Amino acid sequence: MYQTSFLPPLRDHPKLVTASAPGKVILVGEHAVVYGRPAIAVPVWERVARATIQPGAAGSGCWIVAHDLRRRIHLADAPPEDAMALVARATLAELGLPPNPDWQIELNSEIPIASGLGSGAALNAALVRAIHAQVGCTPDPAQVSDLVYLGEQLYHGTPSGIDNTVVAYGQPVWFIKGTAPRVFTPAKPFTLVIADSGVASPTHETVAGVRRRRERDPQRYDRWFDAIGELVEEARRVIEAGECEALGPIFDRNHALLQQIGVSTPQLDHLVTAARDAGARGAKLSGGGGGGNLIALVERASAQPVAAALEAAGAIRVMITTVGA
Ligand code: PMV
Repeated sequence: MYQTSFLPPLRDHPKLVTASAPGKVILVGEHAVVYGRPAIAVPVWERVARATIQPGAAGSGCWIVAHDLRRRIHLADAPPEDAMALVARATLAELGLPPNPDWQIELNSEIPIASGLGSGAALNAALVRAIHAQVGCTPDPAQVSDLVYLGEQLYHGTPSGIDNTVVAYGQPVWFIKGTAPRVFTPAKPFTLVIADSGVASPTHETVAGVRRRRERDPQRYDRWFDAIGELVEEARRVIEAGECEALGPIFDRNHALLQQIGVSTPQLDHLVTAARDAGARGAKLSGGGGGGNLIALVERASAQPVAAALEAAGAIRVMITTVGA
């Protein structure tokens, strides 16, 4: 599930370890999952984050170089609210290691940053796994998920925990907040086109907006959340039965409910319509909404035309992923 490679220690080339973790999309159930309903998220293995550790000079302390974020963190000096430093410190402490080992940690990611594809969670998952690998351990996914969750809390405030779970398990997950996640395997692979609207929309803001609106009308919002929860149950049934084409209308209904709870935008609606018009079986926003990404369920043969139609309709980045292959 994770690629962890060890190169043998050489005289002038100390031990080098590398670990990786995938990007992710939420298939169905975002927002309602914050209120205890189930959701399904899937990894995006076509885009991964990688962490590499090699011993640094004696006395150098621990440096984390996150190339895509253009950040160099000296662990001993990083403030407590630095999510990456927090995750690194918690991992070192859990392993009983010194808090500032002489290590050079390099992080690289193919996952677009701040676009709802879980780049922060994936970088931190790769970091946790690389620290374990450096001392010859393999953490189980639940440990990785718990450590990454510490960082997610700093990024997002009150995250449901679905992002850290899916990147840590690296498989489709059925998730209910506060309960042990269940991984599952689609009976048949299915293909998604993921399109980035290009509009940055911090998840904590859309989550806060839903909370404010729900406080004014809890019954109505809870009905919508229940309806989303039922769609998620239906999605799991069809995925496990290999009837993936039935996911299309489920996406469409989920998108309509996300419109009701106020997290879609005219631009996302426009992109969703463009995907359907180009032959997608269904499409919806994915993640926090207000911008960010959408996903479209496609036949393999229509993946390219749907991707092209999304670009023509204004998506700034499009990728194709096959789930369960
Ligand atoms: O924006 P993303 O892809 O990180 O997803 C957020 C999902 C929400 O359900 C809106 C929030 C959460 O914590 O689950």
